[in-house]
Amino acid sequence: RSQSLPASRPAAVPAMEAQAAARLTIVYGSQTGNARRLAEQLAQQVEAAGLGARLVRADAYATRELKNERHLAIVISTQGDGDPPDDARGFVEFIAGKRAPQLPDLRYAVLALGDSSYPQFCAIGRRLDERLAELGAQRWFARGEADLDIDTVATPWLASALAAAKEALKPQAPLATVTPLRPLASAVSLYTRDNPFHAELLVNQRITGRGSEKVASNKDIRHFELSLAGSGLHYEPGDALGVWPVNPPRLVEAVLATLELDGAQAVTHGAQTLPLREWLSHRRELTRLSRPFVATHAAHAQSAVLNALLAPDRAADFTKLLAENQVIDLLLAHPAAWSGEELVAALRPLAPRLYSIASSTRAVGAEEVHLTVAHIEYEAAGGHTDERLRWGAASSFLARTAEGGKVPVFIEPNERFRVPKDGTRDVILVGPGTGVAPFRGFVQERAATGASGRNWLFFGNPHARSDFLYQLEWQDALKRGELHRLDLAFSRDQAHKVYVQDRLREHGAEVFAWLEGGAHVYVCGDATRMAKDVHAALLQIIATHGGRSADDANDYLNDLQAQGRYSRDVY
Ligand code: 2AM
Repeated sequence: RSQSLPASRPAAVPAMEAQAAARLTIVYGSQTGNARRLAEQLAQQVEAAGLGARLVRADAYATRELKNERHLAIVISTQGDGDPPDDARGFVEFIAGKRAPQLPDLRYAVLALGDSSYPQFCAIGRRLDERLAELGAQRWFARGEADLDIDTVATPWLASALAAAKEALKPQAPLATVTPLRPLASAVSLYTRDNPFHAELLVNQRITGRGSEKVASNKDIRHFELSLAGSGLHYEPGDALGVWPVNPPRLVEAVLATLELDGAQAVTHGAQTLPLREWLSHRRELTRLSRPFVATHAAHAQSAVLNALLAPDRAADFTKLLAENQVIDLLLAHPAAWSGEELVAALRPLAPRLYSIASSTRAVGAEEVHLTVAHIEYEAAGGHTDERLRWGAASSFLARTAEGGKVPVFIEPNERFRVPKDGTRDVILVGPGTGVAPFRGFVQERAATGASGRNWLFFGNPHARSDFLYQLEWQDALKRGELHRLDLAFSRDQAHKVYVQDRLREHGAEVFAWLEGGAHVYVCGDATRMAKDVHAALLQIIATHGGRSADDANDYLNDLQAQGRYSRDVY
């Protein structure tokens, strides 16, 4: 029987190896798109140099190919608490695990991305880098560890990678070099993260707090519509819109006044000279603190309290400090002198905020994009009343932009959060609060494409009267048969709290029947509590209604995830 094996088999292996030897494989794992962007840059540069590159998202990488690789670059971020990005879980587990093969023929390099404010800074990149060495692979050049000012480390690392590739790889036949890896965003539109489109704001509408005075919501959730006309930008439901904020002018002035600095003063940082006010408004984070800034400020203020908080054993207190304070709070509580140059050098670069898109172009037209955004505005304790207001950078920027004003935007694709390709599949959508945003797009999309599968939405918020986002739309969709079930959890309308996961459990038998029928489950919203609780509820439902042990329920859910039938967009 052995003769009936395909004769080409043995020959195919050396061919694959030759192919692998001739190219650079670039694997990325990315949560917010930064690692993907850098990996794409590297792939483009390597191809432009006439060399072979293969760009693969970590979850699309067949780990059995690892032993054939000769040149591997990994670009990967670490999430706050030391976790891999969602798209790299399997990849990291495989390499870290016992099944990983010895890799004596591999040369590799790792670019790790992270946020030094967290104790687990770049932990995933470090772990991969160390583990590959353990497996006998040869470190090609040193690991990069990029903090929030990504390019400081990423730019030289990419240059090293390109130089190493040029030295190690043979030029490809010309035909191969012109084959695009995949249509890159830049091929479709001029506008990218670093060259955003200035979109006109068409609608800026508060959609909470319309109930009676008694239950008036303290939330200010807005529905925004923006025009993409003339941008060439295209999105799919599930993608995010990146928004470049401008810091609140009152906050910028408060920082200048507190430090007794002149906003008109020219400040040079790197190769750029701008007025200090411009740096603080458009280029630096004021609404989020970072560890390096706190450390520098502690030194300037000679503050024993702050210095003590920087000690390794105070990680929990430090995290609390970061979560509860903005730059201005630190400046007010621990006075210190700063020069304009020092301030710009120590503050982290302004980053865009990503919002899950709340529309489908098939329903609203190719030139419109909708968002559902909670406007963050609150009063800090202490100080004068007019010094106390605090804001979220992008939500307050959007909220204070008048209809007709411009907002710098780009599209951040999220291929892991898509309606099922097969329209006959049922979907279970779990989206409390602003987590409902992508599901408005999903339901629009499924209605417009005539998907025959059923749509079941779980939505929750504090009060029905004031916080039932898109209530009329959901009711219309139910009537038209575009939404099949709607279960609501208004947490504060009764004596005890009711959450979406309670509604899931109440309907556990049906939820399980939908899963058995091939349904896809999507969860969007709060990552720290809600998504974990919903995950636990799903496990419990599978165990109870599927008659499975806790371990088997876990396998069932992992399997759904591996099949792309359990997707989360949580933040
Ligand atoms: P609460 O604020 O009344 O506690 C959107 O923010 C909704 O999510 C609110 O109704 C909020 O309820 C609720 N929520 C808070 N914690 C949650 C959790 N762990 N799981 C699910 N929903 C939660």
